[in-house]
Amino acid sequence: MIANMEGCILSTERLECIDAGSEYCPCYLAQTNECITCSHLQGEDFCDCNWRGVCIYQEFYWCSNKKKDQREVIKGKIIEKKMVHEEIMILKIAVTKTLARQLKHPGAYVFLRDWQSPHFFDVPMSIMDADEQKGEIYIAVQIIGAKTKALLACEDKILVKGPYWNGVLGLKNLKSTKKEKVLLVSRGIALAPSVLALKHLLKNKNKITFVIDPGKLHAVFIKNYIKDLNIETVELNLKEEKGLKHLEKIIKTGNYDLVYSAGSDRFHKRVENQINQLDEKVKFVITNNSKMCCGEGVCGACSCKTKNGTIVKMCKTQLEVREALEGGKVNG
Ligand SMILES: Cc1cc2nc3c(=O)[nH]c(=O)nc-3n(C[C@H](O)[C@H](O)[C@H](O)COP(=O)(O)OP(=O)(O)OC[C@H]3O[C@@H](n4cnc5c(N)ncnc54)[C@H](O)[C@@H]3O)c2cc1C
Ligand code: FES
Repeated sequence: MIANMEGCILSTERLECIDAGSEYCPCYLAQTNECITCSHLQGEDFCDCNWRGVCIYQEFYWCSNKKKDQREVIKGKIIEKKMVHEEIMILKIAVTKTLARQLKHPGAYVFLRDWQSPHFFDVPMSIMDADEQKGEIYIAVQIIGAKTKALLACEDKILVKGPYWNGVLGLKNLKSTKKEKVLLVSRGIALAPSVLALKHLLKNKNKITFVIDPGKLHAVFIKNYIKDLNIETVELNLKEEKGLKHLEKIIKTGNYDLVYSAGSDRFHKRVENQINQLDEKVKFVITNNSKMCCGEGVCGACSCKTKNGTIVKMCKTQLEVREALEGGKVNG
């Protein structure tokens, strides 16, 4: 470990960037010698990365030492806007077929914005479902404050920036799990990103138990999106002792290989405490609840400290889940 001028701890650990090897790599961070993964593009003169089939340094060189084109903001057409609860709306948005295909992955999200609002109204929203044939995406929005209230006012068009993929931490575990037993535990608005995770896990022939906690709004708004899926569902209130006890029993007797928790960080902690009681170490995947603003590793809104004191940009970095849960926020 080394310290920079402000006294922050800089990492000599190998970190994984979600965009490494994608069409959006190299990015601004490569240009400023701040690449998350490539040691050369961190200003070092040695090679030390998590090789993922593509050399970021070589790509940068081939691009004449410049970043590749970055994500565009497109004008999406709102095909349908449905209030499924007084605080939750589901938007069906027409985008390009390419974008819909790129977004049909667990952890995918976009920034949405009312077309009349300035860029700081950008709000990260998970993809609940995507139809690549028709070029359509589905997003469930919980109306809370300034940015989401501005979305509520959108009638026919909306600005969409994407694709982004770091909405889930532990993605490698999720994607590599095949023909295993999986438990998904999801609460409130985080039911939305669970749909694509369920579909991906089913494609990989996993046997799934899905624990649904309707949350404080008591809204299971994804019913139509999961009704044809071959999964076992259980509805529980995990804020109550009774619900937690039931979950404990499911976890203890289920013999699961992977547990995916979708909810707040406090919710993740509750699920983690339960799986920590098991003798076997279970693979753990969680939704990424960081505050996201640019999504490009630049603004620093999502900065977080790992338990080793390393500062990481959570919009781009894939962290080992337990490290993410134990780490503290940089700003409070
Ligand atoms: C990857 C990701 C996927 C998400 N997916 C969904 C989704 O599918 N549906 C949904 O309703 N919400 C989703 N959220 C949360 C959503 O972005 C926030 O609820 C929204 O930003 C609130 O903004 P606001 O101005 O309406 O409310 P505010 O009053 O500004 O904030 C309300 C709450 O939202 C949090 N928040 C505010 N700004 C951000 C931000 N830029 N990034 C993250 N959290 C923020 C605050 O901590 C606060 O607790 C997601 C967040 C992330 C990071
Ligand atoms: S959201 Fe801007 S750096 Fe991560």
